[in-house]
Amino acid sequence: MNHQRGGTGHCLGAAFLLFVGLFVSLIANSCSSVPRSVFAPPEIPGATFVGNRACYECHTNYVRTFPASPHARVHFYAAPMPDQAGCESCHGPGSKHIAVGGGRGQFIVNPGKDAATCFQCHLQTHAEFNLPHHHPVLEGRLNCVDCHDPHGSDLFKPSGGLAMARLNESCASCHREQTRPFVFEHEALREGCTVCHTPHGSVNRKLLVESDSNLCLKCHAQVQGPGVAPGEIYIGRIPHAAFLRQGGCWTAGCHTAIHGSNVDPRMRF
Ligand code: HEC
Ligand code: HEC
Ligand code: HEC
Ligand code: HEC
Ligand code: HEC
Ligand code: HEC
Ligand code: HEC
Repeated sequence: MNHQRGGTGHCLGAAFLLFVGLFVSLIANSCSSVPRSVFAPPEIPGATFVGNRACYECHTNYVRTFPASPHARVHFYAAPMPDQAGCESCHGPGSKHIAVGGGRGQFIVNPGKDAATCFQCHLQTHAEFNLPHHHPVLEGRLNCVDCHDPHGSDLFKPSGGLAMARLNESCASCHREQTRPFVFEHEALREGCTVCHTPHGSVNRKLLVESDSNLCLKCHAQVQGPGVAPGEIYIGRIPHAAFLRQGGCWTAGCHTAIHGSNVDPRMRF
């Protein structure tokens, strides 16, 4: 938990409000998906903002890799120089931490496994985790940094490699069953798990982006037209109208091995 954090409800000073106003007007230009009215960096009573360079001496690697991170674009007006920005938006003002020579639990916020710091800016993401089906982040069973690297240039953990391979790998660390090699692969997985699943939350069960056959039909076009009997629907070379009347592509008990199969090229089992 954020043991370093001051009471989140307590009054902000006038200077701080001014600072927040300036801050928000700056990030609003670069990113409209992060709502402007709600942003507040973590508070540390009595501490002031010092800018990224002040962290360099002791946390060299983080400061070095950070400029490539999307969060480096979040600028702090209160930082001594305009290009010194970012660390303190998640860790809170660093002056007292540095004055005591740094250290764990020393006047600095470590968001660690608590998503509250992230939700201060990512309201939309917060809403997604409140949808009926969601990864259990609010329940404390996994957290943002299981999937995201807050400091690096790469959105996904682990970093390195092609974006989609990395994305699948990040899911694979917890979902072995769907990501193991199959004799008959479903090529859809090459486009990444997120062609079918939302990563945060969904109104659909199993975090699916669509609840019915439309999930599949966006890639598997239905063939109609000359030579096809009225009312018949071809998917690939197989007539499907009778099947589709029984239910969805996987819910009707047909393509149940949707992530791949070791025995059936059509992924029915
Ligand atoms: C987007 C929010 C965010 C920003 C910006 C950010 N950090 Fe972090 N930082 C985190 C989170 C989350 C953790 C905890 C990571 C974990 O537990 O795996 C962390 C952990 C740390 C730690 C502790 C690592 C450890 O060994 O436990 C240090 C030191 C640190 N950050 C320094 C920095 C510095 C220096 C900067 C700026 C160059 C920075 N951070 C920018 C979110 C951020
Ligand atoms: C004088 C050296 C020094 C400076 C400057 C410094 N730190 Fe630290 N900081 C440390 C040490 C030492 C630790 C303990 C880390 C460890 O044991 O690995 C630490 C720990 C941290 C942690 C983890 C805290 C925890 O409770 O787990 C964070 C986050 C952090 N620093 C952020 C920052 C940020 C942001 C800055 C710049 C505003 C900064 N530090 C500047 C020395 C420093
Ligand atoms: C101070 C506000 C703030 C905080 C706190 C914050 N973020 Fe962000 N985050 C942003 C902004 C602004 C962007 C958009 C940057 C851009 O692309 O212009 C962003 C972008 C992102 C992205 C998307 C990057 C991309 O390539 O689209 C991820 C993932 C992310 N943040 C995760 C986190 C996590 C995890 C935490 C908590 C450890 C966190 N953020 C804390 C402001 C914040
Ligand atoms: C299960 C893994 C996972 C967890 C846990 C997770 N994310 Fe994500 N997040 C992703 C993936 C994957 C994407 C990319 C989605 C895409 O490109 O379709 C993403 C995208 C994002 C983005 C970019 C905007 C968007 O929604 O596409 C932000 C911001 C973000 N995540 C913030 C967070 C925050 C904050 C947390 C913790 C509260 C978090 N995420 C937890 C996997 C995760
Ligand atoms: C750190 C571990 C972790 C990572 C990484 C992770 N998940 Fe999960 N996932 C979970 C947990 C825990 C659940 C909840 C399982 C439960 O409730 O029994 C879950 C549930 C799911 C479910 C729903 C299962 C159901 O029964 O409703 C889907 C789909 C899913 N994850 C897909 C993904 C995808 C796609 C990714 C990569 C973007 C991913 N997961 C990354 C841990 C993880
Ligand atoms: C072509 C679409 C598609 C792709 C791509 C896909 N999935 Fe799925 N996934 C599904 C469907 C459909 C279900 C629901 C199956 C069911 O209800 O029996 C599902 C279910 C799941 C479940 C829940 C399993 C259970 O037994 O409850 C997990 C976990 C999961 N997928 C993870 C992943 C991961 C990880 C990836 C990427 C490697 C991925 N999926 C890619 C369609 C897809
Ligand atoms: C992102 C695109 C995409 C999505 C979404 C998708 N697939 Fe596929 N699927 C493919 C590709 C590409 C192939 C391999 C080429 C082919 O046979 O059409 C394939 C192959 C198949 C095959 C084997 C076909 C054969 O004749 O060998 C089946 C069965 C299948 N998919 C079922 C489904 C089902 C069921 C869904 C929905 C849960 C689905 N697919 C969603 C892209 C996708």
